[in-house]
Amino acid sequence: MRKYKIAVIPGDGIGVDVINEGLKILETAKELHGGFDFEYTHLPWGCEYYKKTGRMMPEDGLRILKDHEAIYLGAVGFPGVPDHVSLWGLLLPIRKEFDEYINLRPIKLLKGIQGPLRKGPEDIDFVVVRENVEGEYSGVGGLAYQGTASEIALQTNVFTRFGTERVMRYAFELARKRKKKLISATKSNALNYSMVFWDRVFNEVAKDYQDVQTQVMHVDALSGYFILHPERIDVVVASNLFGDILTDLGSAMQGSIGIAPGANINPERKYPSMFEPVHGSAPDVAGKGIANPIGAIWAASMMLDFLGVPEAAKLIFDAMEAVTEEGKYLTVDLGGNSTTQEVGEAIRNKMRELV
Ligand code: NAD
Ligand code: IPM
Ligand code: MN
Repeated sequence: MRKYKIAVIPGDGIGVDVINEGLKILETAKELHGGFDFEYTHLPWGCEYYKKTGRMMPEDGLRILKDHEAIYLGAVGFPGVPDHVSLWGLLLPIRKEFDEYINLRPIKLLKGIQGPLRKGPEDIDFVVVRENVEGEYSGVGGLAYQGTASEIALQTNVFTRFGTERVMRYAFELARKRKKKLISATKSNALNYSMVFWDRVFNEVAKDYQDVQTQVMHVDALSGYFILHPERIDVVVASNLFGDILTDLGSAMQGSIGIAPGANINPERKYPSMFEPVHGSAPDVAGKGIANPIGAIWAASMMLDFLGVPEAAKLIFDAMEAVTEEGKYLTVDLGGNSTTQEVGEAIRNKMRELV
């Protein structure tokens, strides 16, 4: 039987609650499918670990992770540890070190959910391909004249030919498998080096994909387009920061950030890929048992798809959507009053019903 080695990092705040539900869903998928198994490594890394050890993960943390096929992560960051310390100590090094240069974030309104727009599930169904290892998140920069009136902060964007071309090719390939429409998020009117380069590479790569209809839109205008005409969107390719912001906007279009999933993929499968909800640790609802587990559960479904068990992935997705469509078990963010565990249980019951 095929056994998948999964590293589990619940992390901070509601990350722990939602990953707990996600793991129970994975167990149910395994049981109902019967053709695969998991070997988990549970890693208690995050802000609590930092307070005890002064590090977000052990010194050999990345080496430990490398030995897995996938990483299942909750959320990183919590009040008490500065966000740039926690994120640059755990989440961002994983994405970078394992060259997870594709961040796939589906924006899809699930049936039964009343989104904030006058649009239905048939109108909101697209994917953002976010560059995930360079660009605005290169980590290059510095401070000068600290504490003086002349203080300067620099944060440098790094866009490489290699990094830009590969994310675009991935997005074109994905568009080819969908409705053959691709929008590139740019800002070349103001960012006269990075984004002018981004546009040039996009246009060059587009020549190899003449069957894909392309559009280049400034990210500010594109934000409005998300809200007004989501039904015209199929695939969006964006830089690291633009993709981050656009996908939080997209998650709101799905009704709640608690629903949105993301896959951090190393397409060459040279290193582990990482699956996580888009949301963070939500300190305002942490410890209350009311976090929406759907983003984490959907991410688990994406992980199974990536690992090569699409039937099990689909079962999770279908059960999840059947539960939202019925509308009986919804968390507070979606206007319901169910707990995290009740939603998880409803989805597991539905999986047993649908199988
Ligand atoms: P957040 O996503 O944690 O929360 C934003 C809002 O959405 C809050 O009101 C929160 O209650 C709500 N929310 C988020 N997830 C929810 C869920 N599953 N169910 C119900 N409501 C939910 O974003 P933030 O407040 O900007 O960040 C909090 C911390 O998380 C920070 O330390 C931040 O750096 C970190 N963060 C981590 C990740 C990650 O690990 N991938 C992502 C985003 C933010
Ligand atoms: C996300 C998060 C992270 C990002 C933060 C926590 C560094 O917002 O996964 O969307 O910006 O990538
Ligand atoms: Mn984000």
